[in-house]
Amino acid sequence: MPEGAVIDDPKQKAENARKAFEQEFEHFARFRAGGASGDAGLALKEAEALERELADLATRHTGKKSELAAVKKLIGRVAPQERASFGQLVQQIEAGIRGSIEEAAGSLQSFIRDARLERERIDVTLPGRRPRRGHIHPITLVRQRIEDIFVSLGYVVEDDREIETDFYNFTALNIPESHPARDPQDTFYTTEGFALRSQTSTVQIHAMQRRGAPVRMIAPGRVFRRDTPDATHNPMFFQVEGLCVDRGISMAHLKGTVDEFVRRMFGPETRTRFRPSYFPFTEPSAEVDYSCFKCGGQGCRICKGSGWIELGGSGMVHPNVLKAVGVDPEEFTGFAFGLGIDRMCGLMYALDDIRLLFENDVRFLEQFN
Ligand code: FA5
Repeated sequence: MPEGAVIDDPKQKAENARKAFEQEFEHFARFRAGGASGDAGLALKEAEALERELADLATRHTGKKSELAAVKKLIGRVAPQERASFGQLVQQIEAGIRGSIEEAAGSLQSFIRDARLERERIDVTLPGRRPRRGHIHPITLVRQRIEDIFVSLGYVVEDDREIETDFYNFTALNIPESHPARDPQDTFYTTEGFALRSQTSTVQIHAMQRRGAPVRMIAPGRVFRRDTPDATHNPMFFQVEGLCVDRGISMAHLKGTVDEFVRRMFGPETRTRFRPSYFPFTEPSAEVDYSCFKCGGQGCRICKGSGWIELGGSGMVHPNVLKAVGVDPEEFTGFAFGLGIDRMCGLMYALDDIRLLFENDVRFLEQFN
């Protein structure tokens, strides 16, 4: 404060408030009249810090506890003949202070907005980050090959639910109440009495209900059994069902179809053999084996020295199954088969253990790229 100033002089007090503000505001003076946009050296973070400082400064110089507020209170206390001119002076000082702050705040704000936009701008000319490409799972590769073969033979590909009612899982497939396949030790049941399908044969029923006869379809899909996992068993695995129902279909058609399939799948020299078997939904029933694709039937590690590899179950559709879906067994006959995709995949890729297929270990899966 200049020497000799009369502290009680209200005008002097008002001038002091103005001076105190101007001294502090010097720091921000460059931002008056859009100054910040020309300040190329100013970083966004600095500008944000300055904005906060400016807000503090505004509180200090225009807030309730500011010198300016104290001076405004004096207006009513000065001598009446001086009140008008003092009031005008205070008004002018306040307008000056507020105007300066607003101007600086405005240019800081627009600088910050522009800087943020600039930071978020995407440079489309920069080289992109190449996403890691996945690839198809080995089970899917095998499934797609199977589908291609059967589609070329005139079959449609069916898909259906994995949770089934008793009717589709057992009853319609001619599986009697007392059959061991219904045993909870073999099948996963839900609390509602539904079962996770234990074979894709359930799709025979859905497909015939949907399409009637004649029908030619395959149904690849996931199935579930309460099997203890080992090198050739998983509790969840894949099968592909095949069904052909028409007038005059015989076991010869079954054999011809499976022969054609294995030749296309494993090579033109591949042979099949049918061993008598039993399935409730086929009569007669047969296990199908094919000659080992590795040794051609001589015997090797893959076929465990026998020269033959098990492909799956098959047979002529049981008349009771046709009746369950309203197809007349006097008019139509058919064959069906069910093959295990996981074991086929394991043999084709020479896997020691089919559990590897579902461990999701990228080091293993990458090999099938
Ligand atoms: C059946 O599931 C019959 N539904 C097949 C069938 C269909 C017969 C139509 C007649 C007419 P099976 O239980 O044998 O049959 O199973 C068929 C194939 O599934 C087996 O040859 C095997 O390759 C595969 N498989 C069975 N259990 C497992 C398992 N736990 N893990 C991996 N593959 C399995």
